[in-house]
Amino acid sequence: MKYQELYDRSMAAPELFWEKEAQNIAWFSAPKQSLSKDEDNLDRWFADGSLNTCYLALDYHLETGRGDQIALIYDSPVTGTKKTYTFRSLTEKVAQFAGVLQGLGVSKGDTVVIYMPMIPETAIAMLACARLGAIHSVVFGGFAAHELAIRIDDARPKVLLTATAGIELTKIIPYLPIVRMAREEASHNVDSCVVFQRDVHPETLITELDWDNLLSKAEPASYVPVPGNHPLYILYTSGTTGVPKGIVREHGGHAVALRFSMEAIYGMKPGEVYWAASDVGWVVGHSYIVYGPLIHGCTTVLYEGKPVKCPDAGVFWRVIEEYGVRVFFTAPTVFRAIRQADPEGLQKANYDTSSLRHLFLAGERCDIATLQWASKLLRVPVIDHWWQTESGWPMLANPVGIEPQPVIPGSAGLPVPGYDIQILNQDGQQTPAHVEGAVAIKLPLPPGFLPNLWNDTERFVKSYLSRFPGYYISGDGGYKNEDGYVFITGRIDDIINVAGHRLSTAEMEEVVSSHDAVAECAVIGVKDALKGQIPMGFVVLKSSNQEPLHQIQSKLILMVRQTIGPVASFKDVMVVKRLPKTRSGKILRKIMRAIVDGKTYKTPSTIEDLSVLAEITELINAYKSNSSS
Ligand code: COA
Ligand code: AMP
Repeated sequence: MKYQELYDRSMAAPELFWEKEAQNIAWFSAPKQSLSKDEDNLDRWFADGSLNTCYLALDYHLETGRGDQIALIYDSPVTGTKKTYTFRSLTEKVAQFAGVLQGLGVSKGDTVVIYMPMIPETAIAMLACARLGAIHSVVFGGFAAHELAIRIDDARPKVLLTATAGIELTKIIPYLPIVRMAREEASHNVDSCVVFQRDVHPETLITELDWDNLLSKAEPASYVPVPGNHPLYILYTSGTTGVPKGIVREHGGHAVALRFSMEAIYGMKPGEVYWAASDVGWVVGHSYIVYGPLIHGCTTVLYEGKPVKCPDAGVFWRVIEEYGVRVFFTAPTVFRAIRQADPEGLQKANYDTSSLRHLFLAGERCDIATLQWASKLLRVPVIDHWWQTESGWPMLANPVGIEPQPVIPGSAGLPVPGYDIQILNQDGQQTPAHVEGAVAIKLPLPPGFLPNLWNDTERFVKSYLSRFPGYYISGDGGYKNEDGYVFITGRIDDIINVAGHRLSTAEMEEVVSSHDAVAECAVIGVKDALKGQIPMGFVVLKSSNQEPLHQIQSKLILMVRQTIGPVASFKDVMVVKRLPKTRSGKILRKIMRAIVDGKTYKTPSTIEDLSVLAEITELINAYKSNSSS
């Protein structure tokens, strides 16, 4: 079937469309009603069906003759390790670890927090939780203790799973001090903390339990059937306040949507090799390192390392060649990093990447230069596609598995079947072609999309559904062209995207303003040639301050690193006399961003004091010429 026909069908009768798609996964008992309302009057998919995601990802493939196929390839240049797991051996490992969790009292509906690096045990832990109907919440390793503590308090896990260390190129990042600090800060007490000992960094455990020791005594546990709307995981993501949002994903809709996406968007066939070079701590890792490829019977690659210096900028081409990767998915920043290290792409000549059919990019806006460089180098179509932690799978794409569409550089593609994407103006009316507005999705949202926030329906409705009744608001701005291609222009809120990592500037402002000498502050995202955006802080100090400025600047940088994490890449702080504001006291962050990025801007008539803009422009220009010299 052609793209337009399939898309139109999904719009005309969403329930029927997804009912048919749901038949492509192995339910224990098929749902009778595809879409229903829950007690909060929110849409839920496949609530009355019964299934288990771990069964779909593993056991099902043993029953259908895929047991000896490789399910997971672990490639870790930072430790010099390569390992493969067949569907059979992965099922055994997951069942055994589910036995460990069961032994610790974890059962259906309990939560488990996972703070682990890019090792197979992380995927095993996730799948083991799914097997028991327990709800995992993976916390990205680049987050500091405070961020972990916030998540522990919100998810209230029975068990916390961790490893002794993560590895960042040649740096070993010990996890236990972070975990211990987070447990001390959190008010919720976990029953048990289980630690996987890494050979590169063994640790003496105090109150924690040893992973391998528990495994050696455990009995394998079988999968537990759960209703279609049973939560599979919570993944916290940055919102516009200091408190992250707990995005909930459910077994039923998630499995149906991911299987559909593997086929329709990525054009993957069961048995082929799929590689998402991301981190399991992000949604891309959940959907396309762990669940999507496995549910679809594909081989997935779990890569521990960076795109450069492992040992060189040819490592990704080596992985594609070595495993015969058919579809490769990563963030544009990765290509900018490779290009910086190897501008001519000379490393590519050392490898045969002819297995590759498509490169997909997402996670941040893809600049045209990067897209063109990548497609010239790899000689495959490069597909920019757009999605969010909230959606769990792509909303805009070039659905090459249905019918490839022309690639329009700068656009993230066409709406994926199931998504009625509209560009709305301030009054909630659709804008004409080429006129920018808020990117919104008309309800109902398709399966796999977050149905609610963890324990916070009020925030869910307020953040996403109340601005334009009948629509989900994505937080991104954009416009359509006359052919319906959507161009995403960037966030319209305080969220920034640093090297494909979603972060909240409001959260950074909270940390910065907690310093005694700071009277007020603003953190904005500014353009960066490698990371897309990086945060930049502007602080006004209290008149009583006696501390030297450079000391305050270093302290603020350290505070953000220690509170949010190194991944925030917060390295620039400017001390200013005043911040530009409206008469009602709103800081003009958008204008500050334009000044730093050297763009033109319109001065609002409501500005409190015009001279502040001149003052701040002068400071920024001086700062820029200092940092470039
Ligand atoms: N655990 C601990 N620390 C981590 C970490 C982790 N999992 N991930 C990153 N960090 C640290 C880094 O070591 C670095 O610390 P430093 O300030 O001491 O140097 C800091 O956080 C910033 O890291 P990062 O943003 O990764 O920058 P980088 O310069 O090390 O690497 C890229 C740049 C572009 C190569 C890298 O960011 C990348 O591969 N990005 C892709 C991200 C991605 O896949 N996103 C998902 C969407 S598809
Ligand atoms: P995350 O929730 O971490 O996946 O980040 C989602 C945000 O990343 C989106 O709301 C966008 O702002 C941005 N993003 C993701 N993919 C794209 C893309 N292809 N083009 C532009 N922005 C993107």
